[in-house]
Formats: sequence, C-alpha cells, structure tokens
Amino acid sequence: MLNRREIIARGLAGAAAAALPAPLHAAVTPARPDWTLGLADVPGDIAPRALTRLQGRAPEGLAGTLYRNGPARFRRGASAAGHWFDGDGLVRAWRIAGKEARLAARFVDTPKRRLEERLGRMVQPGFGTPLQPGAEVGSADDTNPANTHVIHAGGRLLALWEAGSPFALDPETLATEGPVTFRPDLARMPFLAHPRIEPSGRIWNIGSGGKAAYVWRLSADGAFEAGTIVDLPMASYMHDFTATARHLVIVCQPWVQTANRLPFSASMAWQPERGTRVLVLDKDDLTRRREFELPPLFFFHLGDAWEEADGTIRFDGCFHKDPSFAVLGAPGLLEGRQEHAERPELTLVSLHPDGRAALAPAGVAAEFPRVAPEAAGLPRRHTVFVGGYGADRPFARSVGVWDWERGRADSFDFGPRQLVEEFVPAGRHLVGTTLNLDVGASELHVFDTRRIADGPVASWRSDVALPLSFHGSWVAR
Ligand SMILES: [Fe+2]
Repeated sequence: MLNRREIIARGLAGAAAAALPAPLHAAVTPARPDWTLGLADVPGDIAPRALTRLQGRAPEGLAGTLYRNGPARFRRGASAAGHWFDGDGLVRAWRIAGKEARLAARFVDTPKRRLEERLGRMVQPGFGTPLQPGAEVGSADDTNPANTHVIHAGGRLLALWEAGSPFALDPETLATEGPVTFRPDLARMPFLAHPRIEPSGRIWNIGSGGKAAYVWRLSADGAFEAGTIVDLPMASYMHDFTATARHLVIVCQPWVQTANRLPFSASMAWQPERGTRVLVLDKDDLTRRREFELPPLFFFHLGDAWEEADGTIRFDGCFHKDPSFAVLGAPGLLEGRQEHAERPELTLVSLHPDGRAALAPAGVAAEFPRVAPEAAGLPRRHTVFVGGYGADRPFARSVGVWDWERGRADSFDFGPRQLVEEFVPAGRHLVGTTLNLDVGASELHVFDTRRIADGPVASWRSDVALPLSFHGSWVAR
C-alpha cells in the first residue's frame, strides 16, 4: 500500500506504467509566422557576453542579476515536444553592474535532457507531450524539465517545475548541482514553480497530487522547516497559489484530474458545474480552514494576497474562461499555429468574513502578475503585468502597472515587433526582457515603476535570440 505522500509523489511516473507510446509530432512545418522565434530551439549554453547599450543608463543603485527560466529546447532530429511547457529549462542571468550589462545562460542538466541528448530524440512525457519509445520514467523527476521559474535561496538558485523537485544551480556559473531533497523521506515530492516568499524571506509552497497537497515551509535560506498534507476540495490542476501574511489561499479550479494518463493534460477534465473552490488555511495552524465558492474559472497565475482590517482577504489573478488555451492552444504554438487564443483577464478576488466571495474584473487582458517582494502578503494597490495582446501573435507587447484604487494602468507599448516577457519589481524599478523580431535578438529593459508610460530608462541588446521565458527573480547585489 502506498502512503499518501507516496501517492502525491508518484505523479507522471504512475501514469507512465500504463501508457502506450504515441505517434511522433511533426517537427517542422513551412512558413512559420515570425513570432515563432519566441519558441525557437537554443542549441546549447550561451557563454557570458557583454550587451550593447541602446539607450539610457542603469539607474544609480540598481545592481544585480535578473535570473529567468523558460523552455528553450523543443526539438531533436525529427521529433518535437508536444507542448510549449515541455521544453528543456534554460536559466538566463542578465547582470547589471554600473553602466554595463551582461548575459549568460545555461540549460539545467536534468535526467530528461541527458537522456534525450544521448538518444537525439525527444522521448520523455510531460504536461502535453506524449510518452515516446525510449522513454525512461521511474519518477516524476525523470520527466522534470526544470523550466518554469528560478528563485534564489541559501546562496544557490532553484530552477523550479511543478510536479517534481527543484534543481539547484550555482548563481555565478549557472552550473547544475542537482535535484534538491529537502528531507530524505520527501525526495521527488512535487514543489510548485510559484512559491510564496514572505518579506522576511520565509518560503511557503505547495505540491499537489490529486485531492491532496503537500504544504512546504522553508526558511529564508531554503532549509526545510515544516510540512504537512492537506486535503483539497477537488483534484484541481495547481500551477500557483497565494498567501497573505497570515493565511495560505489555495484556489481549486474545476479542471480536475479524472484519470491517470499521459500526457498529464489528458488526465484532466473541465467540469465547470463544480465551480471554483477557494481554500484558506491559517499559516500557524494548517488544520484551521475555511472555504469559499467562486464561479468556474481557469488560471495559471495569481498575485500576492493581503488582508483588510475587517478580515477581508483580497488577491488578483489572470483568469481564463476555461482551459482551452492550455490544452488546445499552447501545443499548436510550437508548430506556428495560433488557436484558442482566449486571453486571461486581470481580476480582483475578495473573500469576505461572512463567507461571500466576489470577482471584480479590471477590464484588461493581462498575464504574469507580479508584486514587489517587500509587499508580499501585505495590503497593496499595484500589480505589475504584461498585456497588449492582439490577433497578430499569441504573446504580449506591453508592460504595465495596474492601480486597483484608480482602476487604471500606467503602461508602455513596445509595439508590434517586440515579444514581451514577464517584468519583475526591483526596488523602485521594473526589470524585464523582450525579444525583438526585427533584429532577432533578446533585449533587457529597466523602467521607473512610477513612470512606465515614459518608456524604459535603460535598454540593452544581446547578440542572441532566446525563446520566451516564463518567470524569474531579481537578485540585488
Ligand atoms: Fe507560471
């Protein structure tokens, strides 16, 4: 008999035992639209190099590294990953020091990548990639691309996925040290790519498996402090959760696991009639729980949560109507097809002390909500986001700061020839990257948080085109 922790840890490996090999995806289709540069393969690591300054200069006092992670190898030989989310993680270090900026990037050295390098084929299953002949799946970490986020804790980087372990990297060289086991009996447990980090540095995270989740509490230096299993209202897909200073907020959307199949997304079913259930746990006593109900929604990302004086909990999220983009739209992007391009809408959620829950849409399409780390879990009015989605391509073209008090955004449009990635707060600035389609190169930009519409105060250009990354962290020097 497996115990509950083992069931949570089985993940993809459990499904692999029963999976049949699926047909190979076509690797190449002609006449790709130019935005597919955002999904191109990087053949190998990017050696450290200086960037060319385009305009402005780094603000006084802004020195550090923007670490970012995202999939950057999707194809080998005639084979290809079946989903944007399943490429090998490439960790990039965009360093700013004085007037200069530099870039280096290295792939996370995972068992998945080693196996596929050796075979010259993509074989491991993933979120939307079927298992192929030659796959080796003993545990979830065998399929772990470590490609979703990167944080800094305890003097090392942690490259994060969601169904397996973090991978530790050296912050200077970006060399992979290996998967992290926080305690021997917790090896290979799922660890979401979106930990919630208190201003003190303490790290909360969850790892989900069916109708239960493991709640992680780590110290600021990334050491295990405590953990426990909590029951969830339903076996929802879990990419993110949020937290106030006192509570964890776990939003259970009605995209639920109804089978144990590969790829992972084939195990899930959209059941809007179940609505969305929000679980609120007391950080000091995880057995103290409340539940709220919301209409059906699908999401990847939430902003940090906070509590009002009357006990109302608020947080924002980027909410889709259903999972059609994740299931049907994102796989086609690798082949240059833009389908099911329904955009998420920035929305404020209020959980009232009397048990009512309410949604208040901002009226803007938005993704990658970020909050200043010093305000995590505390009352706030601003949310950093990217948006400006159009019909011409599936990616953002603007960055903005939404003001929930004024009900408006201060935003900057990079125009139709830039693909805009997540921007992250860095003190009084925002730091982020874009992919310039005209010159075929990735760029680094710094904004003054109070004057986004004025455009970047400094921009640099690299000599490489890196595919779009998902998430990252600013680490001040
Ligand atoms: Fe994410």
